[in-house]
Amino acid sequence: MCVSPTENHAPIRIAIIGCGHVCPVYLRTAMQFDCLKFIACADIIPERAVAMAAMCGARAATVEEVINAPDVDLVVNLTPITEHHAISCAILTAGKHLYSEKPLASTEVQLAEIIALSADRGLQVGAAPDTFLGAGLQTVRALIDSGAIGRPVGFAVHMLSRGNETWHPAPHFMYRPGGGPLMDFGPYAITAITALLGPAAAVTAAASQAFGQRTITSEPLKGQKIKVTTPTHYTALLELECGIHGSIICSYDTPANGGSPLEIFGTEGSIRGANPSTFGGPILWRRIEDATNTWREAELKHGFAENSRGLGLADLARCMRSGDAPRAGIARAKHVMEVIHAALNSAECGRKMPVSTRVNRPHRLPADAEQTFRLEAE
Ligand SMILES: NC(=O)c1ccc[n+]([C@@H]2O[C@H](COP(=O)([O-])OP(=O)(O)OC[C@H]3O[C@@H](n4cnc5c(N)ncnc54)[C@H](O)[C@@H]3O)[C@@H](O)[C@H]2O)c1
Repeated sequence: MCVSPTENHAPIRIAIIGCGHVCPVYLRTAMQFDCLKFIACADIIPERAVAMAAMCGARAATVEEVINAPDVDLVVNLTPITEHHAISCAILTAGKHLYSEKPLASTEVQLAEIIALSADRGLQVGAAPDTFLGAGLQTVRALIDSGAIGRPVGFAVHMLSRGNETWHPAPHFMYRPGGGPLMDFGPYAITAITALLGPAAAVTAAASQAFGQRTITSEPLKGQKIKVTTPTHYTALLELECGIHGSIICSYDTPANGGSPLEIFGTEGSIRGANPSTFGGPILWRRIEDATNTWREAELKHGFAENSRGLGLADLARCMRSGDAPRAGIARAKHVMEVIHAALNSAECGRKMPVSTRVNRPHRLPADAEQTFRLEAE
């Protein structure tokens, strides 16, 4: 097992597995922070590893070399969802800390295995989504905490699309069991709501499917048909432990409606804005006593309004040195995954499902969050 980085306060030494589309975004974000140092990149397509390694001053390596490298503390898993579980287990088994793209695992059994491995070996695990650390959702949180809308009483999240076959190079898995919009968008929606308002206690959901077949219009599989074998439109009624309840719609069956993807309703007003899958605004809010009845745009006081995937990794690295619990840590991933599976089960059996796990409402990031992450190596 690698030396605990907290012992010498050195930067956390990072390797990446999976050098595809999202990897340069992670590198752009994470390279701003001196608590992280990039050591190696790996991909089953070696030239991708070479390109990403060049971008961050690391070495290109094979997956096996990365997992066993003595000079790597933490491995970031940016492979496709189907690979997450096997690669994450291999990383933990080799004694490395882990940060994974979402979902951390596709099934509850897989998730339990990852949790057990990390607990047995005393390793940290973090997982996307980390969009709730961005300027948009942090501003929503600051508005709620300041009482701008009174006491929150409800919420609505709409994450709508007509499907991924228009842009994804290999979209089949999204239309099979284990895929679908709840698995795809649900982590963003549920992470945002539970980070803003607190953990879920129960969920009731309904599911439907508007199309039995999809035609891929993206390259390289343009024209190929996909038989749809999983629901593609979900509505979930989420009851939070604090008594607030609201709805979450995740769909591949209807184009975005131009409305707000996230709304929080309070006794004195409402907030709208902040797509839970992005980091920015605009964030609008209004109060009941405002005679003009107009929406005001909130100033984004927190940093990271641009695509900043990788912030959760920086937070995890900071926590490995400070001993704090990471905001995008395993407890949050476990809770969100339980809510998703409870919603899937509820849609199948038509009953309300309890949620047993709990996760803290994370501390808000300070307004100077950029400085917070930029810890000097001691
Ligand atoms: N692309 C985005 O904007 C985006 C946004 C949010 C989350 N994500 C998540 O990030 C992850 C990666 O997405 P992406 O869009 O970068 O996918 P991608 O297909 O572009 O990249 C995945 C990379 O992993 C490599 N790979 C596949 N199997 C591997 C294996 N067994 N060992 C080593 N390398 C392997 C592939 O060659 C590819 O380079 C997924 O979990 C996805 O859900 C992506």
